[in-house]
Amino acid sequence: MVDLLLGLQWGDEGKGKIVDVLTKEYDIIARFQGGPNAGHTLEFDGIKHVLHTIPSGIFHKNAINVVGNGVVIDPVIFKKELDNLEKFNIDIETKLFISRKAHLILPTHRLLDAASEASKGKAKIGSTLKGIGPTYMDKTGRNGMRVGDLEFDDWKTKYRALADKHEAMIDFYNVDIQYNLDELEAEFCEGVETLKKLTFIDSEEYIFKAQTEGKKILAEGAQGSLLDIDFGTYPFVTSSNTTAAGACTGLGVAPNNIKNVLGIFKAYTTRVGSGPFPTELFDEDGATMAKVGNEFGATTGRPRRCGWLDLVALKYAVQINGVTELMMMKADVLSGFDTIKVCTAYKYKGEEIKHLPYSIEEEYVTPIYKEMKGWSQDLTQLSKAEDLPATLNDYIAFLEEQLNVPIKIVSVGPDRLQTIHR
Ligand code: GDP
Ligand code: IMO
Ligand code: MG
Repeated sequence: MVDLLLGLQWGDEGKGKIVDVLTKEYDIIARFQGGPNAGHTLEFDGIKHVLHTIPSGIFHKNAINVVGNGVVIDPVIFKKELDNLEKFNIDIETKLFISRKAHLILPTHRLLDAASEASKGKAKIGSTLKGIGPTYMDKTGRNGMRVGDLEFDDWKTKYRALADKHEAMIDFYNVDIQYNLDELEAEFCEGVETLKKLTFIDSEEYIFKAQTEGKKILAEGAQGSLLDIDFGTYPFVTSSNTTAAGACTGLGVAPNNIKNVLGIFKAYTTRVGSGPFPTELFDEDGATMAKVGNEFGATTGRPRRCGWLDLVALKYAVQINGVTELMMMKADVLSGFDTIKVCTAYKYKGEEIKHLPYSIEEEYVTPIYKEMKGWSQDLTQLSKAEDLPATLNDYIAFLEEQLNVPIKIVSVGPDRLQTIHR
């Protein structure tokens, strides 16, 4: 059986931390979409790790980690990730398997991302510039290069043809982008050589066999539901299906083999990059969330925009994904607020609505808030559900009632141990 763990907001909910916490219960941890636009942070023994492509189960001896076919891999970033892991004595060749069907991010995909964003001016997506959009465009356009191609002698010919085409496309954008392709290609080839040392698998077969053997698999989502290419705040989204269905296509898992869908959300909301964000705060409260929550992108270091929890959007995500259990992250960050606000409805074109409309741009949507009493206690040292402050329990109970799904974990700090099970 396969469980899914998915971010329900605009990413950075704390997926890396929770996958690390849960890995001891699973045999396989598998990424199914996205690429190095993701930055998944885990902390234990006083060390903070940030992973981009490698699944967050990599620090546990019991689990195999799989990079599935739906993921896009940049060999250059992948090599850096592996280099960072070197000192931790992980047997990468037996613990980390890569799908032959995963697509490769070429240096020119990154350049195309930059050219596309530059050409958009103020309307830019705020991409992480990791080449995600152009790589998925080549995948669906049936031009892409895949990991399995690297096992054939002619991969450089394929590479050249695609890179040449990309160069012509970069020229077409007619924007000022400086680059030295020879240097980028040397770095790419070095990354490819490292990647080739790993074990390539037909991951759909591997995952299928593991299921028949009764193994427990956790699919680790990247980004969040509101960044989904179909259901997110288009066009300010990423280029993959970040929602539950993405795990079926990104790993080859049949829908009826999915059991639990673990949905993860912050006790408030953040967003990095451009795009609408109805509950965004521009005041002291927002600044406090950003400061206490240390809200800076794990991949780009950009400040994250902060705001109150948006229940309208969260409900939508719970619904789309069929979430069976919830996990609330960063409850500690809200300690000290006298009042906690939750958006329970939108005023949309003059009318009160409770569902996510086609556009949530500021000009159409105004959030309607319910106010709740906050708590002042520091939560970061707590380990038992009984010790949570009464007003936080009221907040949790309200969310459970509204979403009709139990909140099973409350996270009170970045460390593995700062995790309360309910
Ligand atoms: P991911 O992309 O979903 O894995 O999340 P990120 O790693 O990008 O961002 C989450 C950030 O919050 C990281 O810096 C984590 O170390 C941190 N974090 C996770 N859970 C908690 C928590 O409960 N409290 C606090 N204060 N920080 C947390
Ligand atoms: P994790 O897995 C937060 C955002 C970017 C931008 C938009 C498109 O760490 O939660 P892209 O690089 O995909 O073309 O960017 O999506 N974005 C993320 N925001 N967390 C992420 O991943 C993100 N991955 C992409 O900021 O707005
Ligand atoms: Mg992140």
